[in-house]
Amino acid sequence: MLASLRSLVPKDWDTEYEVSWNWFWENVERMLKTLLSKPKGQVKALSTFLSNLSEDQTNFLRRDVFRRFFLTAPAGQDYFKQSTTRLFFIADKVFAMTVDMFNSPRSMVEDISALGLRHVGYAIPTELFPPFVSSAVDVVRSITTNDMAESAFRWSLTLVSKILVRTILEGSTIVMKAVNTNSEKALRRAISVAPRGRRAQELLEISVGTQSISPLYWSIESGSHNCAKAMVEDLLTIRADRDNYYYGCDALFTRHPEVIHKLCVDARQLIWPLLDGLIWRSRISVQGQRRVNYYIKHLVQDGEGNFAQALEWLAASKDPRVAVHPVVVLFSDLMWTRVVMYHFLAERLYFAFTLAVFIISQSVFTRTANSQMGETENLVVFICRCFIYLGSMCFLLIRQVRLVIADFRAGDVMRFHGIPVPKCVLSAQDVGYIGLLTTLIIMCTQEPIFWCMGNMDGDFAGSGLFTSTCPEAVSHLEVYSITAGVSMFLYWLLIMNLSIFSMQISAFVLVCGQVLGELLLFLTSLAFLILAFATSVSAISHQLPDFAGKGWLGEVPSNMAGVTVVAVVLPLRGYFCHDDGGDSYDQDKP
Ligand code: HEM
Repeated sequence: MLASLRSLVPKDWDTEYEVSWNWFWENVERMLKTLLSKPKGQVKALSTFLSNLSEDQTNFLRRDVFRRFFLTAPAGQDYFKQSTTRLFFIADKVFAMTVDMFNSPRSMVEDISALGLRHVGYAIPTELFPPFVSSAVDVVRSITTNDMAESAFRWSLTLVSKILVRTILEGSTIVMKAVNTNSEKALRRAISVAPRGRRAQELLEISVGTQSISPLYWSIESGSHNCAKAMVEDLLTIRADRDNYYYGCDALFTRHPEVIHKLCVDARQLIWPLLDGLIWRSRISVQGQRRVNYYIKHLVQDGEGNFAQALEWLAASKDPRVAVHPVVVLFSDLMWTRVVMYHFLAERLYFAFTLAVFIISQSVFTRTANSQMGETENLVVFICRCFIYLGSMCFLLIRQVRLVIADFRAGDVMRFHGIPVPKCVLSAQDVGYIGLLTTLIIMCTQEPIFWCMGNMDGDFAGSGLFTSTCPEAVSHLEVYSITAGVSMFLYWLLIMNLSIFSMQISAFVLVCGQVLGELLLFLTSLAFLILAFATSVSAISHQLPDFAGKGWLGEVPSNMAGVTVVAVVLPLRGYFCHDDGGDSYDQDKP
């Protein structure tokens, strides 16, 4: 070191410099040597002190830190307005930090910088830190006689406090101060002094060391929505100087790619200003029309060029006002017509084709009571069914497995009584697909043609190539036919989303969906009333043969049947017989 210094200032260097530098570094060395051995003992003493505290002592520590602090600095009360539990939590954290500072100083400096930036958001004046530290040290001193533990605590907390103060001083920009007042005017005034090229950064990032905080996100999280709105508007205003245009759209979506999601969840009223900011309208009109630019790149693509999730988030917010914003309309239409429609159409057409094949195999070529199917028909049915099992069942299986794996990988899992359930199985459509897959698998296991494979030319009616009437298949026919019926119904149900190609049909389907819910409610209440009347009639002593019943439930089932006839069948019969005087049902016995 001395040699380097000498070479830096060769002309001025002399023995006096040499002596003084030697003296200085020897002193530093001596001080360091005496201090170097200390932290080991200090951290041990401090950890032992804190871990040996009884519950009463811990509570006393937690409580007294704030009591003493409020006595020495009454202004501190204005900031600590949280519940006692929260204050105790903070006190615990403060004590834990003093030990961690010894054990992992590097990571602690980063954590404290982040904490300091949060304190910037809480708008804590730096002059309150010394009284807080001295109050905490006083409390520790009052319950321990161990000097080593006390000095360790003092040294560590003072260091933490100094880092916090430094972070607060560096992080307290005028923008953050304006955010703390939640005044739109104050924010506009604060940002107006920033040069055009730096405005976006001032609003989006405050860095201290390796840590950073976003004033925009902070204002959203702390409920300063007036400021957040002003920030969004400022960011999405196009400015210019002689050489450049300045528009904060790229900066906003680069710093916060998930900003749409954040707004949908935490500040829905800001989505509209944000979307408005993505439109530029020319002042000049030509032939009654003016040019309009839509800046939708970040809504379509994320930073890595993948499909952005903006549309998904906007759809999940279920806000019709947002859905009709011109930006959303434009970019969703673009996505639909240029990308999604062809995939969707191809998938749906394939599904419609499988349905047609299924109908051919189950409903067109069927044997009746009087006639058996010929070999050609059997062959057609066999081919169709093989296609269904390979082309539809396997396709659905692969699709569903892929979705489940993707959900587990992305962590999109919900827990029901501790059992992880991927979110993809929770949508109505996917429940339908899973139902169809299940019924097709059951059909495949019960397929009569497969059961007859070993006995196609036996001695029974309808024998021949790919027959399904052999004795081996008889026991499987019932389950097979029921699942085939359910599958057919599910196929038709699932093809209904082709209705989106017509707005009118979609609206009708939507209304039907709503009405179905109401119908279900009505039927439930009807069932409740029937049960109520049936049990009430059973309680009455009567001689009505129609309402007499036996069995372990007594008269209740027959009463329920009777009440159902009175409540449902008679009114319907009355409705249909209205033309012939309306009294025909009076004579009829139900
Ligand atoms: C060495 C000094 C200090 C340390 C180590 C410290 C540490 C902490 C910690 C760990 C939290 C919890 C943060 C979180 O998990 O979100 C916190 C929160 C907080 N601190 Fe400090 N703090 C110090 C000084 C102060 C002072 C002097 C004040 C004000 C008078 C203050 C006011 C607050 C407030 C208002 C909160 C937010 C509580 C809430 O609502 O969650 N802190 N502090």
